[in-house]
Amino acid sequence: MRAGRLAILPTETVYGLGADAANPAAVAAVFAAKGRPQFNPLIAHVAGLAEAEAIAAFDHRARALAAAFWPGPLTLVLPVRDGDAVCDLARAGLDTVAVRAPSHPMAQALLRAFGGPVVAPSANRSGRPSPTTHADAMSETGAAAAASLDGGPCRVGLESTVVALLDVPRLLRPGSVTRAQLEAVVGPLAEAQADAGRSPGRLARHYAPDAPVRLEARAPRAGEAYLAFGSYPPAEGAWNLSPAGDLAEAAANLFAMLRAADATSPAGIAVAPVPEDGLGEAINDRLRRAAGYVG
Ligand code: TXA
Ligand code: MG
Repeated sequence: MRAGRLAILPTETVYGLGADAANPAAVAAVFAAKGRPQFNPLIAHVAGLAEAEAIAAFDHRARALAAAFWPGPLTLVLPVRDGDAVCDLARAGLDTVAVRAPSHPMAQALLRAFGGPVVAPSANRSGRPSPTTHADAMSETGAAAAASLDGGPCRVGLESTVVALLDVPRLLRPGSVTRAQLEAVVGPLAEAQADAGRSPGRLARHYAPDAPVRLEARAPRAGEAYLAFGSYPPAEGAWNLSPAGDLAEAAANLFAMLRAADATSPAGIAVAPVPEDGLGEAINDRLRRAAGYVG
């Protein structure tokens, strides 16, 4: 990465395609490998709060969130302090920067050894489900990487929660750090402002498999693959996101099972109802995007 090359790296959320955040040529290679239709801002990954404070302006709310959830699956969007450490291209020219300290031990070791911020978008090609295993990451963007680290299957399975602290705290992307957990630290969260061009995670048909996705399905129709959840029992040969109805287990299984179902080239993928509470908000957010329902 110091030579401007790319690396597949594990995090606790999903696999990332990592590059030196200060190197515009390396960052451009990341956009090219993902096939992002436009230059959308990337998350700068750092080892911890001290490293993050060098590049972003933290206020008391940002420090409180970092103290509560870092290292872990929370990304903070803050005013940028050092626009060279995270280059213009990585920030898509914005005067803000997204920072996150991942908890995966291999990501931590890599970030400490590298010594500077690392941009790492999810290692999927643009618009596809995020990879949650080393093999899935390699099949998506491995050809563009000079090296990869196999950290096993990702524990969380959904991308980090993204919160902006520019005016009032805003939830830009739900994730495994839930709304309730965040509000316990910073009070009520405002919704993201409609600015989809700046937040690709908010576009419809993001995280999408090739097959059309049908939600709230109590049973598969002819030709459909079925992703069951809890008490909606799987049909023959189907997948169950969590037989016990556990939302954390369902989150961890979601993208891998969407990929596995998609690989059978079904007429469609039907998904059982998943409750909206807690982690269910993030799971349903990704499911609605996979189905193309969310604008
Ligand atoms: O869990 C994760 O966050 C994974 C792992 C690899 O760390 N990474 C990830 O990166 O999901 P990516 O690039 O796929 O998603 C980054 C999201 C995008 O929705 C982007 O628009 C938003 O963060 N973002 C980044 N910088 C931003 C900024 N300055 N303002 C608003 N949104 C920003
Ligand atoms: Mg992504």
